[in-house]
Amino acid sequence: SLKIVTIGGGSSYTPELIEGYILRKDQLPIREIVLVDIEEGKEKLETVGEMAKRQIKAAGLDWKVTLTLDRFEALKDADYVTTQFRVGLLDARVKDERIPLSHGVLGQETNGAGGMFKAFRTIPVILDIIDDMREQCPDAWLVNFTNPAGMVTEAAIKHGGWERTLGLCNVPIGHTKGGAEALNMPEEDLFFHYAGINHFHWHRVWDKEGNERTQEIIDVLYNPESEARGDMENIHAAKFLYEQVKDLEMLPCGYHRYYYIEDVMLDHSIEEFKEGKTRAQVVKETERRLFELYKDPELDHKPEELTQRGGTHYSDAACEIIASIQNDKHTEMVVSTKNNGTITDLPYDAAVEVSGVVTGKGFVPYNWGAFENPAARGMLQVMKGMEETVIRAAITGDYGAALQAFTVNPLVPAGQTAKTLLDQMLYAHKDYLPQF
Ligand code: NAD
Ligand code: G6P
Ligand code: MN
Ligand code: MN
Repeated sequence: SLKIVTIGGGSSYTPELIEGYILRKDQLPIREIVLVDIEEGKEKLETVGEMAKRQIKAAGLDWKVTLTLDRFEALKDADYVTTQFRVGLLDARVKDERIPLSHGVLGQETNGAGGMFKAFRTIPVILDIIDDMREQCPDAWLVNFTNPAGMVTEAAIKHGGWERTLGLCNVPIGHTKGGAEALNMPEEDLFFHYAGINHFHWHRVWDKEGNERTQEIIDVLYNPESEARGDMENIHAAKFLYEQVKDLEMLPCGYHRYYYIEDVMLDHSIEEFKEGKTRAQVVKETERRLFELYKDPELDHKPEELTQRGGTHYSDAACEIIASIQNDKHTEMVVSTKNNGTITDLPYDAAVEVSGVVTGKGFVPYNWGAFENPAARGMLQVMKGMEETVIRAAITGDYGAALQAFTVNPLVPAGQTAKTLLDQMLYAHKDYLPQF
């Protein structure tokens, strides 16, 4: 029977994870779910932990739920470890977003200066978790959701040496649904091939007859007459530039907006900044409301309001990947994994986010090869170089490496702006950056 440990258990997303396990109860012989958090998140852990217990009881299951602040003890004999923690909680995210915007620079939790700082805070923690896992559960799978999920996954595999790491994101799920809707076809009748890195991947789409349908979807979604549609709750639904996307011959992901229509996204973010409504500030309010609901001793199922979070439906990915490993299901999924030559334009040991199947032995990616469009290839290589540099800075605390990462990041103007911004953010986050 299975022991599943979730680090960052106090997250407001936890009820969705529990719901996902309950839905797969016949595939998952669970004996214990352990929710781990830290002193700062103790209250959240208790509230959401009691909620989890009610959900499991209402489903008529006898799974044991343990709430703890003792991570090392919690990891003993775990089969699966899922990670959904946020170092510094949402207050740190407010800084990630607002400090760059105060300089007229895009700040976002996984993109630009904000995403790089989230990596600086998070990577040392994931490596500590892996040190504990080596002693306590050497055969466990690590299912990482913690953002920036691509960089955290790369750090876990390449620097932590934890080969059994799978990085997950809900963005591809949304694009697959959206693409099928655009063609007015059932998802099952289409093949979606994703490739790139986390929050910076593209996809192509084929039907069962083997005909490529990518340009048709581009036409439906992005032609100048069609109405702008959003992909996630957390990303402003601005429309991509039709001719540019057509030239890619691939569909971009929602986060490509920060790069392909940077000015539009920056203007919008600056408006939010002025109103005191950057995403982190909005989400703090959503989280407050969610925890009010979770405190209700009658509530024993995931509330509808959780769909206001950008990560809604992520449990589908997390629980399905566990069920698929456990039962060798060969479910087709999109996973952040070690490249190993899947994308020939990127290093072998880099994390890439690609389509493939999840087997009992782990994730088996479909080959992608080289990007045909040199503009896409070039940007991807710059982004990966940036990620590798961020990871290096996060591990060593090297100031030059951090400045290098800021310099190469397309969303941060290089030079004095990069340096000033870096210095300010290092100071603002110093309590969570012992390595610098
Ligand atoms: P949150 O602010 O609620 O944080 C979750 C919990 O992590 C908190 O209870 C906090 O106390 C705890 N925590 C902080 N530092 C910790 C540590 N060192 N060890 C253990 N626990 C710690 O965050 P959230 O908004 O629920 O998001 C959780 C994480 O999941 C974030 O990193 C977020 O970016 C990520 N996320 C990713 C996806 C995806 O697509 N990959 C989707 C949703 C959320
Ligand atoms: C998307 C991304 C996640 C991200 C989330 C933010 O779903 O895939 O990686 O964490 O949005 O949502 P939030 O509600 O926190 O802004
Ligand atoms: Mn994501
Ligand atoms: Mn730059």
